[in-house]
Amino acid sequence: MFAGIPLFPEQASTLAPRVDNLYFFIVAVTAFFGIVTSLVVVWFAMKYRTDDPSAIGARITGSIPLELAWSIIPFVISIVIFVWATDVFIDIYRPPDQTLEIYATGKRWMWKFQHLDGKGEINELHVPVGRAVKVTFTSEDVLHSLYFPSFRTKADAIPGRYSSVWFTATKTGESHIFCAEYCGTNHSGMIGKVYVMEPAAYQAWLSGVSGEGTLAQRGERLFNDLACNTCHLDDGKGRGPSLVNKFGAAEQLTNGQTVTVDDSYLRESILTPQQKIVAGYQPLMPTFQGMVNEESVMALIEYVKSKKATGQASAAVPAPPPAAQENR
Ligand code: CUA
Repeated sequence: MFAGIPLFPEQASTLAPRVDNLYFFIVAVTAFFGIVTSLVVVWFAMKYRTDDPSAIGARITGSIPLELAWSIIPFVISIVIFVWATDVFIDIYRPPDQTLEIYATGKRWMWKFQHLDGKGEINELHVPVGRAVKVTFTSEDVLHSLYFPSFRTKADAIPGRYSSVWFTATKTGESHIFCAEYCGTNHSGMIGKVYVMEPAAYQAWLSGVSGEGTLAQRGERLFNDLACNTCHLDDGKGRGPSLVNKFGAAEQLTNGQTVTVDDSYLRESILTPQQKIVAGYQPLMPTFQGMVNEESVMALIEYVKSKKATGQASAAVPAPPPAAQENR
């Protein structure tokens, strides 16, 4: 706040002060040199002014100390900014290992958030305080950008690709969600609210009505409805590879490459299955492009993640929150 005007959004995540400190440093360095230069210009203009139109300025041929000074000082300052910014950047792009996972899709003109236990919400997002949250999202139509100003994090929602942001909220309360990429007529209305709650209140909110079961259970129903289960047998004897314990594993492809099975790989395998064929299998799988929307793809991925060797899909709500993590 400056003279009653809110210049900056609230600092409501562990990232926020880190981003702001760097930003304020850059503004301070810029302001310092801007002011010094302006003052010197004015001072010299007064000191060296003359009324004699025939006066000729002194001939200056150069100064090694001066040139070294104005090369080395800016170099050191820019390296400080570079190293500092890289440190913050890595923090923003590397979520901690243990995060609460939430899916989202952007479409003209709304944000849909999907919790793993099945609860979905539109233009609203409820999260617990003090716990690292990772939002994985994509767009169903054009470019959008999911922006949490008070958490100081933002990423583009790109059709056909997964992006993610993460944050650990540090105070309860509500703050804005914006779309930060011009996406058409109602871009400015593509806004929402994030509600940061005490963990107990969040659990109570989560256990409210959701109707359709957990996201993984919904994925399992889809998996059967789309007849995926006729090829992807759990015992590995089907026409497609078994999906048990597949998530996070390395997969050998017919072209000799090895890929790690993650969200993006699974999404690609559902929508463009011919892109990467697992070694030992025929390219038989049909595309499901146009048959499943982005939310269904997310449900299917969650189901694959839940397929563990115990034979039972553990479509459970993730374990209770670990102690609040500091992000560095
Ligand atoms: Cu979506 Cu702007």
